[in-house]
Amino acid sequence: MRKVYLDHNATTPVHPEVAAAIQPFLGDLFGNPSSIHWAGRDVRKAVEDARAEVAGFYGCRPLEVVFTSSGTEGDNLAVKGVAYRSGNAGKHIVTSQVEHPAIMNTCRFLETQGFRVTYVPVNRQGIVEPDAVRGAITKDTILVSIMASNNETGCIMPIEEIGAIAKEAGALMHTDAVQSTGKVPLPWETLPVDLLTFSGHKVNGIKGAGGLLVRKGIELAALLHGGHQERGRRGGTENVVGIVAMGKAFSLLARNMEPEVAEVRRLRDAFERALYARIPEIVLNGHPTRRLPNTVNLSFRFVEGEALLLNLDMLGIACSSGSACTSGSLEASPILLAMGADPTDSQGALRFSLGRGNTEGDVEYAVDAIETVVDKLRAMSPLYHPLAAKAR
Ligand SMILES: Cc1ncc(COP(=O)(O)O)c(C=O)c1O
Repeated sequence: MRKVYLDHNATTPVHPEVAAAIQPFLGDLFGNPSSIHWAGRDVRKAVEDARAEVAGFYGCRPLEVVFTSSGTEGDNLAVKGVAYRSGNAGKHIVTSQVEHPAIMNTCRFLETQGFRVTYVPVNRQGIVEPDAVRGAITKDTILVSIMASNNETGCIMPIEEIGAIAKEAGALMHTDAVQSTGKVPLPWETLPVDLLTFSGHKVNGIKGAGGLLVRKGIELAALLHGGHQERGRRGGTENVVGIVAMGKAFSLLARNMEPEVAEVRRLRDAFERALYARIPEIVLNGHPTRRLPNTVNLSFRFVEGEALLLNLDMLGIACSSGSACTSGSLEASPILLAMGADPTDSQGALRFSLGRGNTEGDVEYAVDAIETVVDKLRAMSPLYHPLAAKAR
């Protein structure tokens, strides 16, 4: 059976050049990068070379790169790292209602520790409006954390404007750029952002490695106390394999991002156009244009997303549904509900995220399969009337 992977926002396949680059670190290059003898020295060099590659990609200084175990840890380090050092500066954080759980649950935890958090809403198209952030900031605000783009809808947030607002108010600005990295430019030099999270496995690296860019001069409280690794900002022997993989992945991005993104956008647009042309009653969740070039989130009305997902899986297609089955009932995605989407439509939402390696053949196969499965499921739905749908 043909297999088509359309879930690159969940994770990406390891790039063959990344797989080759990490091989020596599973063999002879096993040393601890903190050891000063021969076994450690080459490994230290590899870690620092990887740091330089990541820095080169964003245009930051190598010392501004802190390696972590994941995007999740990068987010935790940013938010708790600022909060725990805030002292008398303030106890208020501004974030949005559509953040990844790595931010959302970190903020909820901080609320139990004496911090106050404002979760600003998004508009109907899934975008955080700068004025909403401006209105939420108080003189007690220490941090504004707004994602660069949303993982479910692909909506690109106006972080340039929001960062400027945070700066003006004297608050630090963090952005979770896990999904934006490798898909849209993130020029660190001009971006009004103090802290930026990334993750290796979303850019054809390996799982269990990520990081945080910390602008020079900003001090964070460490979350992991231990050795002097990462200049005391994150104790623990480095995940050398994961870091070397990120170094290679970012060097490939620096070289190939533009043409690869253009191709992914072309395929995504063709996919989306074909679905609209062939299947009635589809709702786009998210902004029509302020959107990552690889992502489309659609509600297929009168169909449950989960049923669609499972039927597509049986035809070899991997995608993702925002709804989660809790105690027998389907709950719509909190992200789509925060956008004010119709709860019934939200249950029929699926996210397709394309990436490096997808082909025109994949798109054609997926469109045919989606049309077949949607027709089948709608035929079983007592709520669906094809003639009424056509007449709309
Ligand atoms: C926006 C966003 N932030 C953070 C993360 C967490 O990254 P990781 O899987 O490396 O912990 C993800 C992963 O899905 C994400 O999409």
